[in-house]
Amino acid sequence: MRIAVYGASGFTGRLTVAELCRRRITPVLVGRNADRLGAAAAEVGVTGAETRVADLADPAGLADAIADCDAVVNCAGPFTLWGEPVVRAAITAGTHYVDTTGEQHYIQRVFDVFNKEAEHAGVTVVPAMADDGGPGDLIANLTAARVTPVDEVLIADLRQPGGGASRGTARSMAAVFDEGALEYLDGAWQPASGSQVEPIVPPGSTAPVPVTTFALPGVITIPRHVAARRIHSAIRTDVAALFASLTPDTVDSIPETVAEDARRASRWLMKADATGTDGSRAQGWVTGPDGYGLTAVIAVEGARRLAADGARAGVLSPAQAYDPADFLNFLAPHGVTWQVS
Ligand SMILES: NC(=O)c1ccc[n+]([C@@H]2O[C@H](COP(=O)([O-])OP(=O)(O)OC[C@H]3O[C@@H](n4cnc5c(N)ncnc54)[C@H](OP(=O)(O)O)[C@@H]3O)[C@@H](O)[C@H]2O)c1
Repeated sequence: MRIAVYGASGFTGRLTVAELCRRRITPVLVGRNADRLGAAAAEVGVTGAETRVADLADPAGLADAIADCDAVVNCAGPFTLWGEPVVRAAITAGTHYVDTTGEQHYIQRVFDVFNKEAEHAGVTVVPAMADDGGPGDLIANLTAARVTPVDEVLIADLRQPGGGASRGTARSMAAVFDEGALEYLDGAWQPASGSQVEPIVPPGSTAPVPVTTFALPGVITIPRHVAARRIHSAIRTDVAALFASLTPDTVDSIPETVAEDARRASRWLMKADATGTDGSRAQGWVTGPDGYGLTAVIAVEGARRLAADGARAGVLSPAQAYDPADFLNFLAPHGVTWQVS
């Protein structure tokens, strides 16, 4: 199997190439700059890897660069600025697509713009296969299944501040901050109401943590497989404040990568709360270490499953493309645990 990585020269791209090598899947490193692609291949230690230069402004060249691959993992952000040409190239080339975006409005555009084209081309497109969008969507599916019919789902990112964000993540957050958060209400997406979100008690704790409405991928992906009146999203208020403080100057001063020991010591935690129309409640959580490392694991396994097992053509949420419990269980050897109650 051969899987292309667009943006292979970046931090997440290099981790993704390393994960492909670990899985003994042939990586093809694609991006705009030959020197940076070569440096990435050398840093990962992949000898003889193919590197291909393809600019986003050259649709035919971009499609050619991934046409003989079974899938492409797109790691080039901000996706709001650079994502759509890679999705279009994947559909043109007949190559399945996953990406590592967390950008809510971009994910919405991928569903709106590309679903029909992907269906006609027989291509599966799964955006948001990162440590928040992937596990968050899967755990929300499993949690909501406990309270059918569902009235409301809250998906929350409860990772603590201080785990470290790459410059690429900071740049992506800064690029989308003005777009504001969406929520899903009565069958349509609209600007989030901004209504107060109750503090959340994280699993294993008794102390409620203040949370704030925030644009997470789940608001776009979960309504595709959970029929609920309302779906909204939040993160810890202290983390929201960190993202809100980003300016072009501060973004440029953030290190390009997160140091390996800090990366491995960090943890991520997604929690879903579902309320039934009869007032019944269910909660689910999924947690693991090393957000960037796990993002590479999640994106590679997502692409591998599309290539090996296939899925319905079109733009899909993670829970539409993969069996939720099976995918989360696959992550267990990487330190991921989950529970629904
Ligand atoms: N949601 C999550 O949990 C999560 C987790 C991990 C990553 N991500 C997302 O993944 C993305 C990458 O993050 P990162 O830390 O890896 O960033 P990064 O190190 O800055 O890498 C960005 C990559 O995009 C490429 N790129 C940027 N602008 C481009 C353009 N105009 N044309 C072609 N290629 C371009 C860069 O190529 P050059 O090397 O040539 O500059 C580089 O390969 C971000 O959007 C981040 O938010 C999300």
